[in-house]
Amino acid sequence: MSDTNEKKLIFSGIQPTGTFTLGNYIGAIRNWGPLQDEYNCIYSIVDLHAITVRQEPAKLRQNTLQAYALILACGIDPEKSTAFIQSHNHNHAELSWILSCSTQFGELSRMTQFKDKSAKHADDINAGLFTYPVLMAADILAYNADLVPIGADQKQHLELARNIAGRFNQKYGEFFTMPEPFIPKTGARVMSLQDPSKKMSKSDENPNACVLILDDKDTIIRKFKRAVTDSEAEVCYREGKDGINNLMTIYSAVTGKSLEEITSEFSGKGYGDFKLAVGEAVADHLEPVRSKYEKLIADKAYLKECYTAGAEAASKITRKTLSKVYRKIGFVDIR
Ligand code: TYM
Repeated sequence: MSDTNEKKLIFSGIQPTGTFTLGNYIGAIRNWGPLQDEYNCIYSIVDLHAITVRQEPAKLRQNTLQAYALILACGIDPEKSTAFIQSHNHNHAELSWILSCSTQFGELSRMTQFKDKSAKHADDINAGLFTYPVLMAADILAYNADLVPIGADQKQHLELARNIAGRFNQKYGEFFTMPEPFIPKTGARVMSLQDPSKKMSKSDENPNACVLILDDKDTIIRKFKRAVTDSEAEVCYREGKDGINNLMTIYSAVTGKSLEEITSEFSGKGYGDFKLAVGEAVADHLEPVRSKYEKLIADKAYLKECYTAGAEAASKITRKTLSKVYRKIGFVDIR
């Protein structure tokens, strides 16, 4: 067996629904790059997932290309990893159908993201929104991924993928690998800057709640200056200080400083100084991502070359999985 075959396999995905947020970045994407040497990594822009809410076609196409350029700008090296666009590999949708027949209505009804999104899009509670976690299970299981780097909000979906895999294995014999979540210790749940009891999300109506990774320096600093904190004046991580806890987590994630170091750095200083420091640190940290992104998005031919090769490599793996699955469940072989 070659060296690459002995490495564990990682799969993760991100939806192309506009520029990524600081939450996407800290909770997920920035962890993807450093895994590339130790693991076989497969990363996908999951456009099939994105259409579970209404999308304007031209915008979706633009967002998908932007998202692809952004993951490369965040450190995904297409020479080391397989980076592709989900709809370019139709095996995901096919496996999703098979797995949906091993998924219960009741377990999909319990998904908190389904409940949240159906409340938010009450005029379009489509079947895709409901079966979305099955497609996510197919994404992961099609590659027999060992590890799935995600933020905390995707943990329930990953648990469902494990249940689906277990049920399939029980019915048809051991086949799918049980995927493990890979959730960062710091920043698994970056909160809104305007309401720190809520997750930072690009769909937030208040633009100050969410930092986008392509925001310019002034915008980033302005958003942090307006961040909601509390009526005390002490930079320390403590229950009940959700706003400050969130800012400390963000500052720690981009500077590598521990919470204790941050507390002593700002002892005797006010929240104004702290918020400015967090804004500057985030903007400086994201600057190289922004400039790399600008170069990549201007080179559509290079992007096309990368995502075409990525789709071929991804399809090669999943075709094998799918043909084994077809045989297991009793479909007649065409060859
Ligand atoms: P998506 O596109 O909503 O988010 C992409 C990644 O970003 C993480 N994330 C956050 N982390 C910390 N704080 C936040 N505020 C925050 N917001 C988002 C998410 O946890 C995620 O890891 N269903 C997935 C995409 C997906 C997928 C997959 C992921 C489809 N198939 C297979 C892993 C494996 C989603 O909607 O993520």
